[in-house]
Amino acid sequence: MPRLPLLACLLLAPGLHAAAPAIPINYDEAKVPPYTLPDPLVAADGTPVRDAADWRARRRPELLELFAREVHGRTPGGRPAGMHWEVTGVDRAALGGKAVRKEVTLWFTARRDGPRMHLLLYLPAGARGPVPAFLGYNYYGNACVHPDPGISLSTAWMRANAEFGIVANRATARTRGVHAARWDVETVVARGYGTVTAYYGDVCEDRPEGLTGGAGAVFGTSAMEARRPDEWGAIGMWAWGLSRALDYLEADADVDARRVAVHGHSRLGKAALWAGAQDERFALVIANNSGAGGAALSKRDFGENVARINTSFPFWFARNFRAYNGREAALPVDQHQLVALVAPRPVHVASATEDAWADPRGEYLSAVHAAPVYALFGRAGLRGAAMPGPDEAVLGDGLAYHLRTGKHDITPRDWARYLEHADRVLRR
Ligand code: GCU
Repeated sequence: MPRLPLLACLLLAPGLHAAAPAIPINYDEAKVPPYTLPDPLVAADGTPVRDAADWRARRRPELLELFAREVHGRTPGGRPAGMHWEVTGVDRAALGGKAVRKEVTLWFTARRDGPRMHLLLYLPAGARGPVPAFLGYNYYGNACVHPDPGISLSTAWMRANAEFGIVANRATARTRGVHAARWDVETVVARGYGTVTAYYGDVCEDRPEGLTGGAGAVFGTSAMEARRPDEWGAIGMWAWGLSRALDYLEADADVDARRVAVHGHSRLGKAALWAGAQDERFALVIANNSGAGGAALSKRDFGENVARINTSFPFWFARNFRAYNGREAALPVDQHQLVALVAPRPVHVASATEDAWADPRGEYLSAVHAAPVYALFGRAGLRGAAMPGPDEAVLGDGLAYHLRTGKHDITPRDWARYLEHADRVLRR
């Protein structure tokens, strides 16, 4: 074999990215170059969007198509014909009598040995009628959201993590409750809401191989590099799974499926936004520290950029999205339009002061620039409002934003804001 120069060897070595040219990351506000955002209210043919009806009939489908084709990949279908579920356990005296705990297995197809998702629900005990609820994925299996020993431990693959007791890619008893602070279950339930969760890896494992399992297996998705340029990626699959969870909630008499908030932190915030944009049944969309590919503007060069996210996570988005690596100006869409696709349903975007990677200002500006679409529906946006300072919030009807002091995380302080917002928009 001919001797290759060292650089070529490194570039050819699987899994070695170190030799690739470094992707510059800007963290200096003064160095953000000027950028132009596509106008949500100008259609592809250059004509202005006249009103809410015109937005719905013409512009909304156009933008959904652009996000599907260029960013996330196409969602290949909705609810599969054979999809079915079984309530596998109910405890009406969970959490010391404060909650009803339910566990449900949802098979995506008619096959019992096929891909499935395990749902966990906590509902307020003694509710007089169907309750509004928060729906979101967890990172380490349902048992990570609360130390309650009654929660079944996931047997699915997950990334090994000593801190969280994930050994040989499986959750262990030590994984119970590791993310309890991120879920704040007691507070949410005491406030009269249900909280519903599933492990995101049930729908697509967070690794390239995940694309052909779970939701990918349902639709015969190709392997990462074999995908058609507009075939979906992990974020699209996670979004699809959220809609399937909502399908179940529509059939659960204890939940009011017309009052479900879909939420997610970080990569799962990206998925929640895409789910809320596509599926108009979600009544409120919460994107917590969702960053690049979530709420943060792509054309604003600050923190994680398109090249970086496509290089670190080449399976999260469609292959088409890679055409914009280092070429954000060429993107036909930006994330304020993703937020706007949720209109007139409310969206809550949240950032953390120490989360520069996710670009808090870019997340805020996305909500600001979605405002003209909300205005079509007579809903005030954040237009004109200054960016909230640390631990401040603007809760408009339609758009809301808050900035929490601290690191990339979702904490009880974030939940206090989400509950305040939900009390306004999900309470009848
Ligand atoms: C990485 C990734 C982000 C993502 C985050 C997370 O930091 O670059 O885009 O939001 O992981 O999901 O925690």
